[in-house]
Order: sequence, then C-alpha cells, then structure tokens
Amino acid sequence: MLCAKYRDFLSWVIYQVYPRSFMDTNGDGIGDLPGVIEKLDYLKELGVNAIWLCPCYKSPNDDNGYDISDYRDIMDEFGTLDDMRALIAGLHARDMKLILDFVPNHTSTAHRWFQESRKGRDNPYSDYYYWFDAPPNDWKAAFGGSAWEYDAKRGQYYLHSYAISQADLNWDNPAVVQEMKNVIDYWVNLGVDGFRIDVVDQISKDFAKGQNCFGPNLHEYIHALFGRENTRRLFTVGECWVQDAEEMERHCAAEREELSTLFQFEHMECGRADKFTPKVGGMRKLRDILVKWQNVTADRDLLYSLFTENHDQPPMISRVADDGERRYESATCLAAMLYLLKGVPFIYQGQEIGMPSPCYDSIDSFRDIESINSYAELRASMTEAEALQKINFGSRDNSRRPMAWDGGEKGGFTTGAPWIPLHSRQKEINLENDLASERSVFRFCQRLLKLRAGNDAFLDGTFQVVSREEDDFFAFTRMWESEKWAVICNFDREQRITLPFVCEVPHLSNLGRTQADGVYQPYECAVCRVRH
Ligand code: NOJ
Repeated sequence: MLCAKYRDFLSWVIYQVYPRSFMDTNGDGIGDLPGVIEKLDYLKELGVNAIWLCPCYKSPNDDNGYDISDYRDIMDEFGTLDDMRALIAGLHARDMKLILDFVPNHTSTAHRWFQESRKGRDNPYSDYYYWFDAPPNDWKAAFGGSAWEYDAKRGQYYLHSYAISQADLNWDNPAVVQEMKNVIDYWVNLGVDGFRIDVVDQISKDFAKGQNCFGPNLHEYIHALFGRENTRRLFTVGECWVQDAEEMERHCAAEREELSTLFQFEHMECGRADKFTPKVGGMRKLRDILVKWQNVTADRDLLYSLFTENHDQPPMISRVADDGERRYESATCLAAMLYLLKGVPFIYQGQEIGMPSPCYDSIDSFRDIESINSYAELRASMTEAEALQKINFGSRDNSRRPMAWDGGEKGGFTTGAPWIPLHSRQKEINLENDLASERSVFRFCQRLLKLRAGNDAFLDGTFQVVSREEDDFFAFTRMWESEKWAVICNFDREQRITLPFVCEVPHLSNLGRTQADGVYQPYECAVCRVRH
C-alpha cells in the first residue's frame, strides 16, 4: 500500500493538453483556453479527472511558451486571466483538477527581470541570471550552439541552456527563490491543484563539476517551493532525468516534501538508437524498463508516473509497435500495458484515439525550434531526403499537430489557418472516425480507465510480472486483498500464451477474446480476473 500522502493521487488520471494545438475557438489558428473549456465534458467522458496544461503564460513563443515573459498573465493567443479562472471553475465543477506547467529554470529574455538585469551590474535584478565576462565553460545549448551568449548592453555573457532567448535564472540568488515562491502562491491562490515542473533538475548547477543540473542546492530549492504550509498538499511532477531509483527517492520520498513524483525517461530510449534514429525491439525493452520501475518504486514507496509520450516525445506507437495495419491493436495494447500498472496515468492528447507520428515531405511543415535547428545540422552530412526521414521520425512536432477532432478540411480544430500543418493522417485518423468504428481506441481507453478507477487492485494493488525477459509478450498481475487480476499483452507475432493460473472470461480485451489462455494475434491484449 502506498504511503497515505500519495495514495489519493493514484486515482488521478491526467490528460496532457498542448493548448496551442488542442482546440481553437476564435479562428486564429491557435488553440486557446476557451477551447480547453469546450472539451472538458469530452475529457470527463474519457475518464480523465485532471489536466496538465502546457505553458499558457505570456511569451514571445520562441519555444512555444517555455520562454515566459510574464509568469502571472496569459498568452494573448490563449485568452485572458478570466478564461483561466473559468477553466479552473469548469474543472472544479466537474470534480477535475488543474496542473499547470511551471518553468523555473529560465525566462524569456523579454521578461522584465532580464531586461533590467542586462542594464548593469548594480541594480536589484543584476544577479537574477548567470553573467560572466567570458564563458566559464564550454556548455552547449540543448537547441544547438554554445550555451553562452554575449549581451552587448551589459557587456557580459549570460547562460541559456535552451534557446538564446531563454536565459537561465540564477537560483543561488535568494531573491530569485522568493520570486518563484510568489509565482507559485499566485497560482495556488487562483485554485491550481498542482504543477509539472519543467527541467527542475537544472535549477541548481554545479559549476565546479561542470554540470548544469543536479547541483548541490537542488533539494533545498525544491523544498523551498513545495514544502510549505500552502504547497505541500499539491500534486507536483518534476521533469527530472534521474538515473536510478535512489535519485528518485531523494526527490520524491514523502517525508522530504519536495516532489510527489517525477517523469523518469529511461523508457524513452525504446524503439530508437538516438532521437532521430529508429531501432527494433522496442516492445521488449519497454516492458523490461516498466517492470524495473514498478519494482523499485514499490520497494521504496514512491509514486510512479505512467507515460509514454508528451509534447517532446513522439507517440510511442510509432516507435515500438505497428501504426499501420494494426494501429488499433497496438494503441489499445500499449494502453493496457501502461495504464493498468501502478502509478499516475498521463494521457497525451490524441493518444486516446491512437494518433501516430505524421510524415511530411518538406521541413517547411515543421515549426519546432529544435527540429529546425537539428535539420540544418543533419543536412551538413546527409541528403535532404535522409535528413527529413530523421526529422519525421523524431521531431517534437510529431506530437504537436492539431488535435484531429474530425476528418474535415481543418480537422475540427479551427476555422482559420492552423499555426502548423494538420497531422498528415488526419483525414484517416480522427475522433469522429474512431467513434464511428467498431474498433474504437477511445472506447477501449474509456473502458480501461473505468475498470481501473473502480478497482483497488489496479490502483494500489501489488504488481507482479508473470512473463519472462525472453518472452515476446507482457503478462502481469495486480492484487489487492483476495482480488487478483491478470493483464496479458502480446507483442508483434501470433503466438500461444499459457498462464500459470486459471482466469475467468476476459473482462476487457481489444479483439473480443473469450479466454485468457490460447493463441494471441499480434498486439492482442486481455484483462481477466484470476480464479482462486
Ligand atoms: C522541457 C520542455 O518539455 C520542452 O518542451 C522545452 O523546450 C524545454 N524543457 C525548455 O523549457
């Protein structure tokens, strides 16, 4: 049984909304907060009870909102603070929660703090950022080039771990910590229920060790934010690239009052050799990594985050399974193998209809700063076709295409010109088609979430793996008191699966199975109660 502090979170099912691409209500081609409000009943119907909203603060949008120029106001394209208030009210009225994206590591250089800071070395904002006369190291920015940029006004270099217009905040300055506490309090007072914290491991740097993350004061800073009277009840999930369970424990153990959970990314390597290069064997790897983290988090009483994709990570279905002929089976099988594990489910928008990665024949169809910069780098050593193939495989835009609500000209997303081309398969794969089909991914997910919500075995029950590493399937049990359930997910080949126990007729399956044992089609899955 998970510790009391976190147990309630096991019943949260979080849907990640990328507001820019979710639903546009004013025809400017950009999704907005009223669009999110419009779809709350849809989300409720799916079985979701919380949303994580990617950044919606004022921003020049060089990195789609992760470059914030005002932490307390809403981006013009997304609406107003009143829209945000209405969204919070709409969610709470439906007994749903709101998790905001909090970006503490950097601000936009358009932020007032940076504009003041660059004016000189002796104003109240001078030390809000990292300034040096010369680059103190050779750190690289995540979007290419040096992480140090010369600012002629100040006559010094500042650090930017991402785009040139995303300056890293200097958390070693207590005034910055205080500013950030105030930002958190501002949103908590507006009724926000939690935060996803962007690259939280980077807010403390270790210049001596040449590391721009996991610095010596990291825990102190996180605790300063979330270990307070009004913040310790919040749900907090850190984007934090921990290497092992001990590191996770140092951030998430309940008594530390830091983070409720974090996204660990080990399974992001499944199905790829690097960000832009595919690799076979992803399903087995995914299973083994999930099993490992189920076990280590259970041993340490930690809350695990169940996700396979987000606005940075292309859909898992296109990396490890079949997004062609067996797309329905693959999407539903992946859902069963992930969301019936122990932890907090995160569903990325479109995942509930089995949206795969799209494909384009020109770099002009991409908008993401990382994809565009990477394409230019790749082109230096390969042909246009080769470079595009890589971008089509690994681009962050793969999960940033407008939500395909229907197969119409604008996909039901907007009446205007979408800010980014629609998904290349939107005519074929969209919510309307999915719901009209007998093989609906949405309805499968809905049934799966319902089963999970009403069942202690799937919420807080123990996990036990049944399949072996050499098997091409994943079978596990979840057990609570005398109630035991089995989940069987076949991989990419037809095979006979025989379980070491007897099960009842499957409660849920993606191909209408009538018994747990027997021949499974590729990506067929079944969820059954185990007979005593
Ligand atoms: C991680 C976010 O998820 C990503 O989209 C962003 O570009 C970087 N952090 C920088 O904020």
